[in-house]
Amino acid sequence: MNLILFGPPGAGKGTQAKRLQETHGIVQLSTGDMLRAEVDSGSELGLRAKEIMETGQLVPDDMIIAMISSRIDQEDCKDGFILDGFPRTKPQAESLDSMLTEKGLDIDHVIEIKVDDDAMIKRIAGRFSCAVCGAGYHDEFQKPEKDGICNQCGGTEFTRRADDNAEAVTARLQAYHDQTSPIFSYYKEKGLMEKVDGMAKIDAVTEQMNALLG
Ligand code: AP5
Repeated sequence: MNLILFGPPGAGKGTQAKRLQETHGIVQLSTGDMLRAEVDSGSELGLRAKEIMETGQLVPDDMIIAMISSRIDQEDCKDGFILDGFPRTKPQAESLDSMLTEKGLDIDHVIEIKVDDDAMIKRIAGRFSCAVCGAGYHDEFQKPEKDGICNQCGGTEFTRRADDNAEAVTARLQAYHDQTSPIFSYYKEKGLMEKVDGMAKIDAVTEQMNALLG
């Protein structure tokens, strides 16, 4: 099963993709995480992407398309994948279609996580992750079970993203409304577009997703 998750910054795409990965045995492919790994590694792609990401703009389509195409070819994607943060523009959606056709693959579900813009700002402001294993948390909605200690690996160091500041979040939201929302009609025409209420609690959103995926 291959699926696409849509939602503005902070909608819960990453949170839900990690859960679906565990329950459905399909791999989360987050283009944001991939780009951040390139930035951390100091690669040429990472150097090009860093400044663009910090301002909240979208990185050029050609960089993303090549990156996702080679990732889908990896062995761990053979049972299915969750596209988290891709496609984000019409050219990316069209390239995805042609690359999947070439690979003999298809998209089974396209799910939009709907949230209010105000809620998303609160979510992003409170988000942090374990510096060791990357497990995601929130100051209010998803605290570690023991204060200051990662549930998954016991790590005690946490980080916050460089683009989780008011200016970049505003630009990310604008990019979502201007460049990503318009591609919903592309998937509606294909009869693939579905929705969940992202304002519900994290577990309730997962239940809605599981109901759609069967
Ligand atoms: P990316 O990393 O994809 O960021 P984003 O789309 O802005 O999404 P986020 O990761 O911020 O949010 P999320 O929906 O995953 O929310 P989360 O689950 O963490 O992209 C970053 C940048 O990379 C882009 O700006 C761009 O520059 C570049 N990029 C990436 N892909 C690209 C592409 N295809 N083309 C061009 N450029 C690209 O949840 C947020 C917080 O809320 C968490 O703390 C969580 O615990 C909490 N939370 C989640 N769900 C709930 C809930 N239901 N109730 C309460 N709290 C909740």
